[in-house]
Amino acid sequence: MSRRGLALSAGVALFAAVTPRRGASAPSEERRLNIRLADRIATIKPELHGQFAEHLGSCIYGGIWVGKDSPIPNVEGYRKQAIEYLKAAEIPVLRWPGGCFADDYHWRDGIGPVSRRPKTVNIHWGNYTEDNSFGTHEFMRLCQLIGAQPYLAGNVGSGTPQELRDWAEYCNYPSGSTLSEERTRNGSPEPFNVKYWGVGNENWACGGNMTPESYALEYRRFSTYLRTLTGKGAFLIACGPNRNDLEWTRRFMEALDRRGSLHGYAMHFYSSSKTEATKFTPETLRLQLAGFADLEKAILEQRALLDKYDPERRIGLLIDEWGVWDRMVPAEEKKHGRLWQQIPMRAAVAAAMGLNVFHRQADKLAMCNIAQTVNVLHAILLTDGDECIRTSTYWAFDLLKAHRGKEAVRVETGGNDPLDLSVSASVEGKQLVLTCVNPRHDMGMKVDASLAGGSALGGKARFLHDADMNACNTFDNPDRIVPRELPLMADRSRIRMELPPLSVATAIVRLA
Ligand code: AHR
Repeated sequence: MSRRGLALSAGVALFAAVTPRRGASAPSEERRLNIRLADRIATIKPELHGQFAEHLGSCIYGGIWVGKDSPIPNVEGYRKQAIEYLKAAEIPVLRWPGGCFADDYHWRDGIGPVSRRPKTVNIHWGNYTEDNSFGTHEFMRLCQLIGAQPYLAGNVGSGTPQELRDWAEYCNYPSGSTLSEERTRNGSPEPFNVKYWGVGNENWACGGNMTPESYALEYRRFSTYLRTLTGKGAFLIACGPNRNDLEWTRRFMEALDRRGSLHGYAMHFYSSSKTEATKFTPETLRLQLAGFADLEKAILEQRALLDKYDPERRIGLLIDEWGVWDRMVPAEEKKHGRLWQQIPMRAAVAAAMGLNVFHRQADKLAMCNIAQTVNVLHAILLTDGDECIRTSTYWAFDLLKAHRGKEAVRVETGGNDPLDLSVSASVEGKQLVLTCVNPRHDMGMKVDASLAGGSALGGKARFLHDADMNACNTFDNPDRIVPRELPLMADRSRIRMELPPLSVATAIVRLA
């Protein structure tokens, strides 16, 4: 978002805004924006709305995968309700099998007749027994059922270049080799044509505790054997830094010396909190949401550093793990599995702020994957027994979906307070999409946007809101936080809508 040369000021006129949901009232301030329709940033790749699912807690087992003999309604072993919700979410890309799990995963354990698959131990997430009933074919079928592109994270930490190149051959080689014939015998004559290949995960920690230099050497070695087998258009991804660790990036790029195939470079960025998900206070809310300004700064600084080594931007920057990571509640983890947390209204605001950042920086990003899809961290679905609910974050993604594939345009706002109104806008043909997020729990925001270079002919808006930052969709009350219609005024050069505290609103405006 451009904050240059702002002639606009944040309005300070106070007036009472009625919070539409519960009738409570909060003071409201005016926010003026200037949407510069002709000032294009880049296409918002659908992949910026990607997801991530790991063999961790109840994300896969018990969450997405319940098994064919389960009393829980299922489609070929996948939880039916989850498949329906994930399909409706139109997830563009799904990363699997980890996370930390990836660098201890041996893909051959997860193919062939299920009864003959070995029982291994998930050393990262509780030393529980992994029966490998969910393996490569089950993941590919999941992607097919929900319409997502697969992204495989390969094992560098405890694996070998041969193991990873064999996985690529097994997945992508059309026919005629022993491995491709094995794939055929296992039920998939057609190659999976996987485009995205991660070469390790967090290799500075659970992926082998490597230095940037030692990882760069591993990357060169592993990628050498992946290059041709993954096929034309393959996208090989290196492990980037934790948050904005510029030292990791600099030393990795120096040691890599630009050799080998490198198409993507993946940073991880969690906005953590020491507070339990449903016990946030105004102060801990502020601390966590302010982290999204750090995320934007990290994207700018990491890209600027990458540009020194890659001025033509052939290497795409990814954030293949991001989201909120709150303090876990031991009783909930015991019941639902590791890293299970509730997803309140505050988390939806956080998700929408993250997506707004990605839209504003669409020219610098290749993919982003929120962690994780079901029952882990910043999940879009939660399950309990045979129940499956859509979280507030599911609906935040739903509200921002309209931006996918459109061209992000610059919006001038009146300040740079990280807890002020968060905005992104995009255009395609005669349609403008504008998302505004009000991260304040104590103040409404009356958005008054002017359109530079276009004229509005009307439109519609939907919003997500709960006055209680800790309120969530629960198994007893699954639809407490769902999108509702929001009054919108879109006429000629002005767009106006009023956001209650803690809300996410998207307007879809027709342009002349
Ligand atoms: O998403 C949970 C964990 O967070 C992943 O396994 C790891 O990559 C990261 O530290």
